[in-house]
Amino acid sequence: MARNFLDLSDAGGDAIAAMINDAIDRKAARAGMPKAQPDADAPLAGHVLAMIFEKNSTRTRVSFDMAMRQLGGSALVLDAASTQLGRGESLADTARVLSRMADAIMIRTDDHSKAEEMARHATVPVINGLTDRSHPCQIVADLLTVVEHGKAIPGLEVAWVGDGNNVLSSILEAAGLLKFNVRAGTPEGYEPEPEFIELARAGGSTVTLTADAVEAVRDADVVVTDTWVSMGQEHAVGKLAAMAPFQVNEALMAHAKPDALFLHCLPAHLGDEVTEGVFESAQSVVFDEAENRIHAQKSILRWAHQQL
Ligand code: CP
Ligand code: NVA
Repeated sequence: MARNFLDLSDAGGDAIAAMINDAIDRKAARAGMPKAQPDADAPLAGHVLAMIFEKNSTRTRVSFDMAMRQLGGSALVLDAASTQLGRGESLADTARVLSRMADAIMIRTDDHSKAEEMARHATVPVINGLTDRSHPCQIVADLLTVVEHGKAIPGLEVAWVGDGNNVLSSILEAAGLLKFNVRAGTPEGYEPEPEFIELARAGGSTVTLTADAVEAVRDADVVVTDTWVSMGQEHAVGKLAAMAPFQVNEALMAHAKPDALFLHCLPAHLGDEVTEGVFESAQSVVFDEAENRIHAQKSILRWAHQQL
């Protein structure tokens, strides 16, 4: 059975912790090396990752490509629209063909069931590079960034402010697996997905739901937000007005712990979900977070290949 990474629970808490440790070690070991030079042990030498994109991407696309280069392998980018998928070839057949030609598949798509369908028919690992349901790879990079900045994950108080979206769902899933707490400050009608709230609570995480951004952020160790309009939701009527009180600005950040970190998966919309002042502040670690997508992907790929 191939090891799929469609959601964080596919790996579990111990494996995610191992990924974070592996990423820290490998990142340190290659400090100062040219970005595309393979790591000394090149653990995925000769391997190729096929990446299917049905949505735009900068970080996920480049970080998986760089991750494969650093692991000694390579990656192919397939724009779904220009493949036979775009002309109606089934996901099942595409999965079987790519399994003969590549060693792993990453898919970014809208409906999560498409990633599941791909995984059902592939004989190589399938990795979720974002769906409307979740963004598990992002959260491995986020937790890596938090640890790198000196914070322990168990017991961490993470405040989410804004839209109850796919990224928040994966944060909640991680919370249950790695025992940290989440305060979600979201407007009415944009609350987190109940399934993920339950997952977090079942894992022993304390989840606080509030429509008050200040209550969410008070004494938090980490403050996280994301775009108010996710890909595919461009026509959501009335959403921006509902989100306006949930902007992460200097006044809101002042309610978090003085050494709180600010995270954002990017791309950011300054003046909407975050002010330029917070985004550019010393508390903001968003570019470490973006760079860490490479190091996190490497550990996810190694786990998928049963090397972790
Ligand atoms: N954070 C993230 O997934 O970025 P991209 O959409 O650029 O891949
Ligand atoms: N929630 C955003 C994340 C982008 C990386 C989206 O789905 O568009």
